[in-house]
Amino acid sequence: GEMETAPPDESADDIVASLPSNTTGPNLELRQYQGVWMLGTVVPGLISLQRHFRSRPGDVLLASPVKSGTTWIKSLTFATMARFSYPPCAADHPLRRLNPHECVPYMEEVFLHGQEAKLEALPSPRIMHTHLHYSLLPRSLAKCKTVFVCREPKDMVVSLWHFLNRAGVNFSFSEVIELICDGKNPNGPFWDHVLGYWRASKVRPDGVLFVRYEKMLVDPVSTVRELGRFLGVPFSAAEEAAELPMEICKLCSFDTMRGLQGNKTGSTGEFNFAHQSYFRKGIVGDWVNHMTPKTARRIDTTVEEKLRGSGLTF
Ligand code: A3P
Repeated sequence: GEMETAPPDESADDIVASLPSNTTGPNLELRQYQGVWMLGTVVPGLISLQRHFRSRPGDVLLASPVKSGTTWIKSLTFATMARFSYPPCAADHPLRRLNPHECVPYMEEVFLHGQEAKLEALPSPRIMHTHLHYSLLPRSLAKCKTVFVCREPKDMVVSLWHFLNRAGVNFSFSEVIELICDGKNPNGPFWDHVLGYWRASKVRPDGVLFVRYEKMLVDPVSTVRELGRFLGVPFSAAEEAAELPMEICKLCSFDTMRGLQGNKTGSTGEFNFAHQSYFRKGIVGDWVNHMTPKTARRIDTTVEEKLRGSGLTF
């Protein structure tokens, strides 16, 4: 569905101040904007994005809940689309030098800092990323080819907890569980986040590709082929013979990425997240090492109930 954007004459700060808030933990204030819980500090960026984003033909949007394979889908998509200028084995490939988050901008942050010029400067076709729900996308953005990646929620929660703690936001594990089950995690509720893109992918399969982290891990090469087809740059017979999809997967694999200098050092973005912290374990099922069967069941049941009837399961 389309949403009304905020009235253009109201200041973003006034809007944020009027939103319902939920302060959990020492330094995490969430605000509820158009039905979605978000870091209060990010909301002005979203308002600006809704008011000012201008699309360009060929734009590609990547979307995801946090800790669901964002870094990976950014690198795979970038490598797939840039392969005509930078074959995956090129020594000067941008992904060998830069963190994937430096190759594909995070839109809320760009607009939060008034850095729209960064987007203007990107060569076409542009690749951009958002953590926004489908319902919050401005119309012109919702029309872009969109790749959405998500992940089994228990593994996502575990990944989030580690990530926040590494970043110095000291959350207890049970606090993070409460947030996710209440739908008050950053960019929550989780179920609305996944359902928005799930439904859009059913209505417009040419416009929205729904990808799952677990499936990517089992068969990354098929995912890359699917990306190529979906984005209008399918791999040719010659490229297949040269094993290009496989080479892209090797470049973007957890082990290669984690070992690159640009990912071992430096930090990125609004909160100065260490590049290193985007590469932790990269496996399925790590939740068994973190939660009791009872907690696991609670998350499963909550999510199952919310997704009932949609055809989407985790
Ligand atoms: P874990 O914390 O479970 O290891 P995001 O990129 O959305 O922030 O998600 C981060 C999660 O993706 C982390 O999960 C991280 O280890 C994993 N990840 C990052 N790069 C990856 C890659 N190339 N292949 C597989 N998983 C990757």
